[in-house]
Amino acid sequence: MSEQNIQEQVIAALKTVQDPDLHKNIVSLGFVKNMKVEGGSVAFDVELTTPACPVKEQLRNECETKVKAIPGVTEVKVNMTAEVRAAQHSQPILTGVKNIIAVASGKGGVGKSTVSVNLAAALQMSGAKVGLMDADIYGPSIPQMMGIPITPPKAGKDNKFYPHEKHGIKVVSAAFLSKEGQPLMLRGPMLGGIIQQFLQNVEWGELDYLIIDLPPGTGDVQLTLTQKAPLSGAVVVTTPQQVSLIDAEKAVRMFESVKVPMLGIVENMSYFICDGCDKKHNIFKSGGGKSMAEKFKIPFLGETPILSGVVDGGDNGMPITFQDTESPATKAFQSVAGQVAAQLSIIQAGSEQTETTFEMAWKE
Ligand SMILES: Nc1ncnc2c1ncn2[C@@H]1O[C@H](COP(=O)(O)OP(=O)(O)OP(=O)(O)O)[C@@H](O)[C@H]1O
Ligand SMILES: [Mg+2]
Repeated sequence: MSEQNIQEQVIAALKTVQDPDLHKNIVSLGFVKNMKVEGGSVAFDVELTTPACPVKEQLRNECETKVKAIPGVTEVKVNMTAEVRAAQHSQPILTGVKNIIAVASGKGGVGKSTVSVNLAAALQMSGAKVGLMDADIYGPSIPQMMGIPITPPKAGKDNKFYPHEKHGIKVVSAAFLSKEGQPLMLRGPMLGGIIQQFLQNVEWGELDYLIIDLPPGTGDVQLTLTQKAPLSGAVVVTTPQQVSLIDAEKAVRMFESVKVPMLGIVENMSYFICDGCDKKHNIFKSGGGKSMAEKFKIPFLGETPILSGVVDGGDNGMPITFQDTESPATKAFQSVAGQVAAQLSIIQAGSEQTETTFEMAWKE
């Protein structure tokens, strides 16, 4: 069979590989690039919309299996790559940032900062460029959880400043604006001013994902951010208890009312895995986050376990996702990160509307 012939068959085979989230085949989606056919040897790239894609390996295997089955093909090399797509927004701020994700909850202490930090870690480890904005002005926890000493940020040009950087993640926090251990004493309207600075005066550079860790509730900071920041979507964190769920519903309603897309719900401290028996124990009941997601018809992003390693990671400034890749908590945070990235890709695919043809994509 000629190389031309093989190539046509490879394209036909790849047209049967569906992206389960975007509900289209990977050829129509423009994912297949740089195809080379030499004799029976076939090589091509599959460029996904996020390096954290939860079905990356599944897609690779399906491509390999289907192309190998073509008569005349002796060797297949599938190179999985990713180019995060930018959410479309018209505001002229945070222009180098492709996706902005707010992490919120109704109630305090449910694990927003923990989820933010580990979500950032999981996305960073997948290969994405990640920033973390600590928008909890009165109770900033991110420097502690990331292990960043309290020092003033480095000044740039035109009143701008650079984020701190740790574990490959760029970080801003109000904690860096005050002396270590000193509270930042501000009246309500000044909170908005700090958030504006974080949005306008930070040299974030190019980022695939900027995670914003919000304070609890639906107050000034949340309002300023939803009005001024081009948020791509919001993640609401809850614990399984009814008291947390009631407040989480308020957070969901707030984002709905200001038309910020809901990426979904995370149920944190959902279950405990006992060392002795390896069994999941639902100490605070379970299923509340999932049923809430069903009620609001929004995605359920996953459950994360309550584990001492998560607390240690936060206290020691080394998020568990970086520290212990085998921990069930790390696996849970990675899965949540994959779901968040997938939801963003789904939202963007819906707004793009344009269908790239195979020819357009691979001749680029
Ligand atoms: N999955 C978990 N397993 C064990 N401990 C956890 C888990 N998630 C959070 N914690 C612990 O619970 C405490 C509160 O978490 P965290 O600070 O992330 O919550 P928060 O919602 O950001 O709180 P706040 O509303 O005060 O900002 C921390 O000590 C943290 O280490
Ligand atoms: Mg917090």
